[in-house]
Amino acid sequence: MTTPFVPADLDQWLAAHQQDALDELFAFLRIPSVSARSEHAGDCRAAAQWLADRLTHAGFTASIMDTPGHPVVLGEWRGAGPDAPTLLVYGHYDVQPAEPLELWTSPAFAPEIRDGRIYARGSVDDKGQLYLHVKALEAHLAVRGTLPVNVIVLAEGEEEVGSEHLEAFLEEHRERLRCDGVVISDSTMFAPGVPSILSSLRGLAYVQIDVRGASSDLHSGMYGGAVVNPAMALARILSTLHDEHGRVAIAGFYDAVQAWPDAVRAQMRTLPFDEEHFRAETGAPALGGETGYTVLERLWTRPTCEVNGLLSGYTGEGAKTVLPAVAMAKVSCRLVPDQDPKAVERLIAEHVARVTPPGVTATVTALHGGRPWRAELGGPLHDAGVVALEAAFGTTPVITGEGGSIPVVGDFERILGAPVLLMGFGLPGENAHAPDEWIAVENFRQGMRAAATLFDAYARG
Ligand code: BES
Ligand code: ZN
Repeated sequence: MTTPFVPADLDQWLAAHQQDALDELFAFLRIPSVSARSEHAGDCRAAAQWLADRLTHAGFTASIMDTPGHPVVLGEWRGAGPDAPTLLVYGHYDVQPAEPLELWTSPAFAPEIRDGRIYARGSVDDKGQLYLHVKALEAHLAVRGTLPVNVIVLAEGEEEVGSEHLEAFLEEHRERLRCDGVVISDSTMFAPGVPSILSSLRGLAYVQIDVRGASSDLHSGMYGGAVVNPAMALARILSTLHDEHGRVAIAGFYDAVQAWPDAVRAQMRTLPFDEEHFRAETGAPALGGETGYTVLERLWTRPTCEVNGLLSGYTGEGAKTVLPAVAMAKVSCRLVPDQDPKAVERLIAEHVARVTPPGVTATVTALHGGRPWRAELGGPLHDAGVVALEAAFGTTPVITGEGGSIPVVGDFERILGAPVLLMGFGLPGENAHAPDEWIAVENFRQGMRAAATLFDAYARG
């Protein structure tokens, strides 16, 4: 087989418009569309409007569609006609909160290029990876006045808070969104210069545990030792979540876990992964986790239970002798096929009820969840993805797994009946959700070239 190439007409246009693409992405990144914070609801709408305007400029019909939460942006180009296939590009315009702000080298919403990287909240997750598709589509319509397939662009504003309203949106607009495949760039490549197609995502079950003791904070000398301390009770509850082998000790937790296919595990072992390099990049003194599994297996194929946040008592400057009345923990489990988020939430609640010491009450509230996903690799969309990535990067993509979650991926398959191709352009160490998030300028550029090639490759079959 000859090495695939990026069509020259599109490649020239993208090269000539590279600076425009960067300037526009910077404008997108300046909008602080933090979905988790109600005070940013206006910014989320502004980001949606900005994107709709860019889609219109590219030649799409764009609408902003309200949901009970942040709006969905829907772009449509159906010029290939009713008999041609339709591809749907999905992404999200919302971002994670930028705090702690003081740890950013340059402000989170003032994008800046340093050392070939674009630093800003949302640069890689997911505005940069979403916008590179918009530019690729614009290239087709600008150069050729047409696309070889019909295209729908669906961008939501609630991915970072669990895509709560998207499932209902897909159900409601099932006919309008009917498509032959879904393309998503919201993930990472295995290494620089190594294009990657994702074969799995973990799911999520996120809960909050509230422990209550006395009706108000108490003097720790006058009451300590006689009244149960909710912070200590919470620490005891949390300490029961794992056994000494790093396995989750919640009864029934592993019941639905399927063995990972041997072929996929074997393929995983061929990836050149350096555990020490991975450790060093995190800055942690040592790695941990479930015994009996490699780091990649722990990350991609095994479920977890983690504390994401803890709050209780006095945490200000100096000392305060107080016996807190409440303690709270945010806890989330990453899930693998066929664990069900709702079922896991129930198991956590039952577990907490069993281990809560006398003298306090504990409640477990479900926050959000998402199902795990594993791809059926192969088929025309997957094959087109391989061709497009090879054309852009000059090397065949590797198949990887992923520890993170994109809750809607399973819904696309289930509700729209369409296969999903996940080709991401982030890189290890990109600081998604953390200070100094970045995307490599080079990957933004190659991503546009790969995305532009994908539509031709898919139409050629
Ligand atoms: N882009 C990520 C998912 C992801 C993370 C893919 C790492 C590949 C590598 C996405 O925006 C995300 O952060 N998802 C959340 C989902 C949650 C809020 C339901 C996650 O994984 O925490
Ligand atoms: Zn994210």
